[in-house]
Amino acid sequence: MPLENIRYVLIWSPWLRLSHWLIAAGTAFQITSAWALKHDNANYTFWLDWHIISGQIILMALVLRVVLFFSPGSSSWRAFFPDKTQRQAMLQMIKFYLSFARFPLPNWYAHNPLWLPLYLLMFLVLAGSSMTGLFYDATQNISSYSMSALHRDLAYIIIIFSLFHIVTVLLHDLKGKGAFISAMINGYRYFHFTGQNNDTDKHSLKNQAEKKPVTISVDSIEKRPTVGKD
Ligand code: HEM
Repeated sequence: MPLENIRYVLIWSPWLRLSHWLIAAGTAFQITSAWALKHDNANYTFWLDWHIISGQIILMALVLRVVLFFSPGSSSWRAFFPDKTQRQAMLQMIKFYLSFARFPLPNWYAHNPLWLPLYLLMFLVLAGSSMTGLFYDATQNISSYSMSALHRDLAYIIIIFSLFHIVTVLLHDLKGKGAFISAMINGYRYFHFTGQNNDTDKHSLKNQAEKKPVTISVDSIEKRPTVGKD
């Protein structure tokens, strides 16, 4: 009977988690305050002030995220360029969604391989939305788009992304064994390896992972501290 080794690995740095939750909370507040601004019975100045403050917080969180692009590990810009295994995992993710979660979820290390390019795109959309918000009343157009129209349409993209993102991370958490949402809170997630023995040697774990149809980047595990829970 093959034994299962479970590794508990730090994948998200505290700074990345801070930027993620500032962006997530900021987005939730932006949607609520934008909705309030459209309602006559809400206090317009109050909600506008907080909409602007929260937009500036998102902008600062984005600056932090850009700084993190130049740090090592899962925050790095390098993590956004999928390798061959991640490209295979992208296909498996598409099969997973198309089969309504009946097809097995592939393994991945930090970012979900299919969502990787969308995250990058989202940073740009969030930045664009913050900037068009700052220049909301400007009279200049960007290819016949007024600042306010651009701000509104970018906000729609963010809302759609957020809805799909939240539903899919819940689905991954439900169907996977990695505790992905809790990892975005405490930084650590689980990796499962099956083996004939209880060998915790890193090279052995690497081989075990590579036997799987889609593997995580074990190199990244080797660089990180692990809390033994084998
Ligand atoms: C309750 C709400 C949310 C939860 C539970 C959540 C959870 C997560 C999780 C688990 C990941 C890692 C996913 C993976 O495996 O690829 C992640 C990543 C990410 N999420 Fe969320 N998220 C939430 C809201 C949002 C919102 C509202 C946004 C932006 C509009 C957002 C933007 C991102 C981005 C950009 C990443 C990539 C992380 C990075 O590299 O900085 N999330 N989120």
